[in-house]
Amino acid sequence: MNIKEEIKRMCREKNAVIMAHYYTDGEIQDIADFVGDSLALAQKAATTEADIIVMCGVHFMGETSKILCPDKKVLVPDLEATCSLAESCPADKFAEFVAQHPDHTVISYVNTTAATKAVTDIVVTSSNARQIVESLPQDTPIIFGPDRNLGGYINSITGRNMLLWDGACHVHEKFSVEKIIELKNQYPEAKVLVHPECKGAVVKLADKVGSTAALLQYSIKDSANVFIVATESGILHEMQKACPEKTFIPAPPSDSTCACNECSYMKLVTMQKLYDCLLNESPEIHVDAEVAEKAILPINRMLEISEKLGL
Ligand code: 13P
Ligand code: SF4
Repeated sequence: MNIKEEIKRMCREKNAVIMAHYYTDGEIQDIADFVGDSLALAQKAATTEADIIVMCGVHFMGETSKILCPDKKVLVPDLEATCSLAESCPADKFAEFVAQHPDHTVISYVNTTAATKAVTDIVVTSSNARQIVESLPQDTPIIFGPDRNLGGYINSITGRNMLLWDGACHVHEKFSVEKIIELKNQYPEAKVLVHPECKGAVVKLADKVGSTAALLQYSIKDSANVFIVATESGILHEMQKACPEKTFIPAPPSDSTCACNECSYMKLVTMQKLYDCLLNESPEIHVDAEVAEKAILPINRMLEISEKLGL
């Protein structure tokens, strides 16, 4: 049996679409019908005509698709593929924090559970966080969760003073400033690409700060031939595919004994699990109806503002 052909055949038979995030393994990105960052995946899910969405990414991405498409079947290859950032913000604790600041507008990064989104006013992704924050009057008091690094970065570029939830991603926290500087000394012409979930000291080294899609576009359009990439290393697959003549160097984590610049959750998605989940139509994402009813409001607000701003 050719597993890739079988996956394609089942997709045709079942009218299923495979969506993948840039952090999944290269072969998963290659078989997907659509590859994108968190914003693009949500936008695509909202408009797909498929009956089944197979979300090759992490759990909150499947949940977002299910909330946007309650009548479709949303499958994920591995339910254990969660997200350390989403887990750093338990909904009950976040709701307590929100209740302590009743006059604040609550902005949550898309990397949250549906239950956390249910106590949120506007969802953002790293593609639109700046513009959505800037669309609110300058004196609006804002709570931003859960990523303290992204929130701190947005505060620094907008002059806001948002209250930050103290969460972080286990991959993006670990990049080493010293090792990126060493690489810069070795390749002085290299451009440094940084995801805003990285710590402020790493962001300061960046030539470009942006979402996965923004970093990819920058690497395609910029005239540099060497790039040091401080985000999950799966993005290098798409960069190298788009620009085979350029050199992409994954920024090293502080601990050189581990593959800490890989998201262990994203890497749980394998070809065999993708095949099994299409065959069995399981595991399926379910979202509690009451939670979904609340969580769709801030997600739709994000999609509406993004559309208005042409993002
Ligand atoms: P993007 O929205 O930039 O794709 O990021 C998603 C993510 O999980 C980053 O760690
Ligand atoms: Fe979550 Fe970090 Fe993995 Fe992104 S890289 S999905 S934020 S754990």
